[in-house]
Amino acid sequence: MKFFIDTANVDEIREAASLGLLDGVTTNPTLMAKEADKGKTFRQILEEICELVDGPISAEAVSLDFEGIMREARELAAIHKNIVVKIPAIPEGLKAVKALKEEGIRTNVTLIFSPTQALMAAKAGATFVSPFVGRLDDVSSGGMDMVAQIVRIFENYRFETEVLVASVRHPMHVLDAALMGAHVVTMPYKVLMQLFKHPLTDVGIERFLKDWEKVKK
Ligand code: E4P
Repeated sequence: MKFFIDTANVDEIREAASLGLLDGVTTNPTLMAKEADKGKTFRQILEEICELVDGPISAEAVSLDFEGIMREARELAAIHKNIVVKIPAIPEGLKAVKALKEEGIRTNVTLIFSPTQALMAAKAGATFVSPFVGRLDDVSSGGMDMVAQIVRIFENYRFETEVLVASVRHPMHVLDAALMGAHVVTMPYKVLMQLFKHPLTDVGIERFLKDWEKVKK
């Protein structure tokens, strides 16, 4: 299972990369806007991220028409070979996904809230689909149920498209995604660090260190 980090903050990305467990990065306009407040341009942020992580880096196109998406996608893909273009699950978006595949540009179809949106994105040739589980949970719908259905559909038809679980809020989303066989989970830095946490690990370390004090010479 691949771990991506869902942030445009280069300090968090550097920390996460230093763990040796990071396979890629996802960004979106909201995450970029938080960093742009610090005086960096969108392009500078992306270039810095590409220096830090050698894996798929998702950057979002914001046009909603085919020509605009194609233009943005080509510009983004030209920044670095690891850039994957995020495109919303709308008809113009999926037309672009198909055309970009023919040009060899990888895509991540985003804002997926139903298994049939994911099915269409896979048929269009998306590299990744991003079901947003937390935002679905927020409106009392089962985010992880959607992921289970997408994984099943992709297995049924042997799609090569990878299921990238997004809008992750807590470690249970990561656990459930792993149990369902999702290919990738993208998570905020906070959730990545929460995965390490267990009170018995802390208590165990404290006791071992105390006992070691008694035996060391
Ligand atoms: C996915 O790639 C998105 O960037 C992200 O997971 C959205 O998460 P949010 O619902 O916490 O904004």
